Amino acid sequence: MIFGVVLAGGIGSRMGNVDKPKQYLLVGDKPILIHTLERFYIESEFEKIIVLCPAEWVSHTKNLIRKYMVDSSRVVVLQGGETRNETIMNSIRYIEENYGLTDDTIVVTHDSVRPFVTQRIIEENIKYAKKYGACDTAVKATDTIVCSEDNRIISEIPERSKMYQGQTPQSFNARKLKNLYESLTAEEKDLLTDAAKIFVMKGEKVHIVDGEVFNIKITYPYDLRVAEALLRGEE
Ligand code: CTP
Repeated sequence: MIFGVVLAGGIGSRMGNVDKPKQYLLVGDKPILIHTLERFYIESEFEKIIVLCPAEWVSHTKNLIRKYMVDSSRVVVLQGGETRNETIMNSIRYIEENYGLTDDTIVVTHDSVRPFVTQRIIEENIKYAKKYGACDTAVKATDTIVCSEDNRIISEIPERSKMYQGQTPQSFNARKLKNLYESLTAEEKDLLTDAAKIFVMKGEKVHIVDGEVFNIKITYPYDLRVAEALLRGEE
């Protein structure tokens, strides 16, 4: 079984002083989260689409889904976790309790604040996760990436042709992800920025799905303006 897992458990602190987490802000005439869910909803391979949000936003999220979506029967709203990976683990716990985890259980995990994901990207994620057990969406870096150990002086300039920028979805065999995550120490968990790194840390292969430059993550107020422009371009 394949599950869409839409991560909306963050509070959007980098968006600044707004009265709600960024996933609930409007772009065009709909909340960002609804745009993202619509992209997931049209993928018929998903048994369920699981949305995870902060505990105090669960009932609001359910209301939004009822208001904006024609059919909400395939969408489940759950509470997220303290960290992004704990949010993913909450979805896997739900799947395990309600469906069991088998060798064929796949989770396609996606940032709720990337509303421009395409059907092609979602379908390639499903295909690669089935075939390889783990995949991550990324685009080739256009800017040269520079590294700094102390945030002041450049310590390394890696070869640009080997550099990518990670996006989402990231998709996994759910049982493998759970087992690997549970095998990490607290220190290793602290080093994680995303779920693909769990596999990389443990020496497991993660295949790359080609992303799109417009598959942006809405993080700062400026990104909202870009998102408005992208949406107008689509219309
Ligand atoms: N996320 C989540 N659970 C958490 C933290 C983050 O589901 N405990 C989700 C966010 O809701 C977002 C995605 O992960 O859709 C990407 O994270 P990011 O852009 O960093 O979101 P926030 O943590 O909300 O933003 P910030 O870092 O600015 O506070």
